[in-house]
Amino acid sequence: MTGNPVLTVADGARIERDASHTPAQLRLSVRAKGMIAFVVIVLYTMMVGLIVAQERQQLFATVQELERVHDLEETLAKINTSVAHAILKEQEIFYAPDPQPGYEALALDIEAIQAGLEGLKRPYPKIEGAIARLGRNVASLRAVPTRAALAELRASLYDLVAELDAFTRQVGSRRSVLSEGYRLIYDAITLTVIIGGVIGVVVLGGLTTLFFSRLARDLRRLESRALAVVTGYRDDPLEVTRHDEIGSLMESVNRMQSALRDHEKQLEITRQQRFHQDKMAAIGSLAAAIAHEINNPIAAIHGVAEAMDEIRRSHRCPGLCQPTLILEQTGRITQITRQMSEMTSPLSAEPQLIDINGLVRNTCNFVAYDRRFRNVKLTLDLDGQAPAAVACADHVAQILMNLLINSADATEAAAERAPEVRVATATRNGSIEITVSDNGCGMDAGTRERAFEETFTTKPAGKGSGLGLFICKSLVERSGGSIKLKSEPGSGTRATFTIPLESRATTT
Ligand SMILES: Nc1ncnc2c1ncn2[C@@H]1O[C@H](COP(=O)(O)OP(=O)(O)OP(=O)(O)O)[C@@H](O)[C@H]1O
Ligand SMILES: [Mg+2]
Repeated sequence: MTGNPVLTVADGARIERDASHTPAQLRLSVRAKGMIAFVVIVLYTMMVGLIVAQERQQLFATVQELERVHDLEETLAKINTSVAHAILKEQEIFYAPDPQPGYEALALDIEAIQAGLEGLKRPYPKIEGAIARLGRNVASLRAVPTRAALAELRASLYDLVAELDAFTRQVGSRRSVLSEGYRLIYDAITLTVIIGGVIGVVVLGGLTTLFFSRLARDLRRLESRALAVVTGYRDDPLEVTRHDEIGSLMESVNRMQSALRDHEKQLEITRQQRFHQDKMAAIGSLAAAIAHEINNPIAAIHGVAEAMDEIRRSHRCPGLCQPTLILEQTGRITQITRQMSEMTSPLSAEPQLIDINGLVRNTCNFVAYDRRFRNVKLTLDLDGQAPAAVACADHVAQILMNLLINSADATEAAAERAPEVRVATATRNGSIEITVSDNGCGMDAGTRERAFEETFTTKPAGKGSGLGLFICKSLVERSGGSIKLKSEPGSGTRATFTIPLESRATTT
């Protein structure tokens, strides 16, 4: 028996095994992709947070600096007020009729101002000169309390006011710079948060939407392909666009589709072979019955003719009596019925030692009765030295019949030549070579390339199914042989197939 057309558990296991075989490319599961997306989101959030934290630190430092500037401004304001009071007091004392009692009080005020100025030494070292000058003036006022000393003191107070003014302006502009810096940093933080948030939402949201829409699209493609395979789709495989679980599923559907296609091919071959065998068996039994029915009267006629011949030989028959003619014709009818029964007796589908030349001869004799061979000159050129080979007689006969019928069709298509078909056998390179050549229409390059394809035919519907050469190739290859075509349009075709003498023909 030939191939098992049904998908078995072993096939299922093979498909499973094949599906688990991953090519050398990065395969990420959907779960891994989800994890990566999560890690990316966390890293991105941390990065934005880090930038914002750095900017906040700068903002904090600016605020601290602003506070220090504010304190300094307050101190300056207080000192300015004290200096203004001291100047007023000095004026009062200077113009008082008796200035003596006010000197000491003024000296004490100036010392208080001096103490306040000490705090400005660090941020404004230039103040040290004014402090020293004030100290000297107070000392000389105490030592020689005169209006001239007072005038000296007033001059240094005016200088101090000028110094303090300059410093206050410096502090003021520093405050403006810091305030501007504060505003810029605050804006930067706001911008970072907004841009970081928007980029995060747009990019991550976009990628997530893209991922899920691709996933949904691929799942839809997969679903419709699976349904198509169920309803008989066997053409191009689904393009595998992913390298995750869905991609593996796509590969599995493709493998399932190709496994089904292979099994269906086997099924078709098996069906064709069964059909061929059934047809041959039906022809065989009909031919046997006809031969049997014909043989009986022929035997009787033969017997009568022999008796007549005997009478003729003994010169008892008149001159016109010619029984040899009857004997010739009955002999011919007997040969035809023998040929028919030889060819139509069931051929083995199991590999066994067969006489290839005998099989070729019988097959040609049988096919010659086909109406397509009515006008064809069928010649045999058999290698008398060809050894017996182990092969399936039924398969060899089927291959040969397909090639012979193709040749007959081709010669019919080239009606301008007297149709000729030649069958030859030869022993070459450890194989028996069987060649069927014809002087038919031949094939162009396109037909030659596709001739072995399943269902490829150039014949009109109802005349050819395009399975003949496909089945021939499959049967020949199964027995370890090969088949090839040599053909040119207009100059005929030569089909050659080989049967290895070391046959590995199988029954599958
Ligand atoms: N001897 C030949 N001469 C010219 N063309 C040929 C010959 N043999 C095959 N072909 C071409 O190859 C095609 C395929 O041949 P194949 O035997 O597979 O199918 P078919 O003869 O068309 O149909 P089927 O054999 O199923 O009835 C044919 O249709 C024909 O075009
Ligand atoms: Mg054919």
